[in-house]
Amino acid sequence: MIQVNNDAAYTSAVAWVQAENRTLAQRGAAPRYHVITFGCQQNEADSERIRGMAEQMGYLPAKGPEDAALIVINTCAIREHAELRALSVIGRCKKIKERDRSVVIGVCGCMTAQERRVEQLKRSYPYVDFTLEPCSMHLLPQAVASVRRDHRRRFLLGEGVLEAVEGMPIVRSARHRAYVSIMYGCNNFCSYCIVPYVRDRERSRDSGEIINEVRTLIAKGARDITLLGQNVNSYRGDCDFPALLSRLDALEGDFVLRFMTSHPKDVSDRLIEVIAGGRHIAPHFHLPVQSGSDRILARMNRHYDRARYLATVEKLRRAMPDIAITSDVIVGFPGETEEEFSDTLSLIDAVGFDMIYSFIYSPRKGTPAAEMEDQISDEVKGERMRRLLEVADAAALARAKPYEGKTLRVLVDGESKNGADGMYSGRTDQNKLVHFAATPEDVGQFRLVRVERADGYAMHGQIIRES
Ligand code: SAH
Ligand code: SF4
Ligand code: F3S
Repeated sequence: MIQVNNDAAYTSAVAWVQAENRTLAQRGAAPRYHVITFGCQQNEADSERIRGMAEQMGYLPAKGPEDAALIVINTCAIREHAELRALSVIGRCKKIKERDRSVVIGVCGCMTAQERRVEQLKRSYPYVDFTLEPCSMHLLPQAVASVRRDHRRRFLLGEGVLEAVEGMPIVRSARHRAYVSIMYGCNNFCSYCIVPYVRDRERSRDSGEIINEVRTLIAKGARDITLLGQNVNSYRGDCDFPALLSRLDALEGDFVLRFMTSHPKDVSDRLIEVIAGGRHIAPHFHLPVQSGSDRILARMNRHYDRARYLATVEKLRRAMPDIAITSDVIVGFPGETEEEFSDTLSLIDAVGFDMIYSFIYSPRKGTPAAEMEDQISDEVKGERMRRLLEVADAAALARAKPYEGKTLRVLVDGESKNGADGMYSGRTDQNKLVHFAATPEDVGQFRLVRVERADGYAMHGQIIRES
């Protein structure tokens, strides 16, 4: 484990930037920072550390990229589309740099762990000052200091550490919901996936560090805590995942504990037992299945088959009848036949998922699946996606309807995104979205909501007030 606070290079870089920023602030030009995030919750959690380090260096939050002296773009590489979106946002920084050459522009995250992307940024995006791959994130102060002091571009690749890094400050986006990374990286090498290449091998934090972080969060008012990792059930700190979960569950307080993501190949009976017997553990399991066809699952290198997946679902439901099960599905994996695709549809039907995140297969350079010869055409992929969505929507609706008339505990998040005045939204313990009328005092609190109407992906109801 590395502690940045004991690391001379880290602390001296922070101190140097801090001093520079203090001088600017005294002249009335306090420098500001802005972070743009793409990708999964792991990236959201990383961005909270980037914000933490930026504030530690003496930057204040900016309203947007235009009034920032430090812009960091935290990228995702999971699909082609994610990379193209990030590149387009990076491209927009050109104008900002033309207006003010002193603005520091950095790109980090999964895209920048690929040599060809770093080369591309170096060559075609001359206004990008530095890149930092995910396992070098704690080198942010050093990158910023070296760009500002030496006016040199820095492209940090292959300099990261393969240990958990502790001590980076965190600026969280919400008080009542919090992400806690418990492990980093992935060893699974699913044949379609870029993550093991860009986030490197699995490394787990010490359970003591995690428990302290969660305890502090609860004391500060966090009500919903999500443990994060590419495959949380392969957590191997000084204990295994079920043990970590049950130690966290033993903490006192009014909170819900969640975890993301689990790999179906290692959902143990012990894990199910801990969740079922938990006091704080949410009745929700995100269990990405990817495909319902045994041949495709084998080609994906997933290490389970349809029967085993269904058996796990059954065990979960037997132990916790009210559990919500959600999943990820890929359509159009190389060589997927019409029949194999229907196996995925029939699996969705058989399980009855509460929600599915479905993705069109996107070839990722350097992964085995991208080299497979029988790639599926865009037309077929698009057509299968439409059919998949129909089946997934019907399953979600069937799972949602029985909630009508029920009263559920909801953690209130804030005003509904596109709702009418006075409408708020929140999440049930099963992580289902609910809309209801509320007041600002309800935000961040658990409330009981009576569900009046349930659509596939959102429910509508009323808070029950104690009289
Ligand atoms: N570690 C997690 C998820 C990581 S990525 C897990 O194993 O479940 C989130 C989802 O993106 C995956 O579950 C998969 O469905 C999808 N995904 C990954 N690589 C993809 C690719 N090349 N094309 C399309 N979808 C992909
Ligand atoms: Fe990718 Fe598979 Fe690892 Fe998930 S488990 S991150 S899909 S390689
Ligand atoms: Fe994307 Fe990296 Fe997450 S590739 S999905 S940001 S682990």
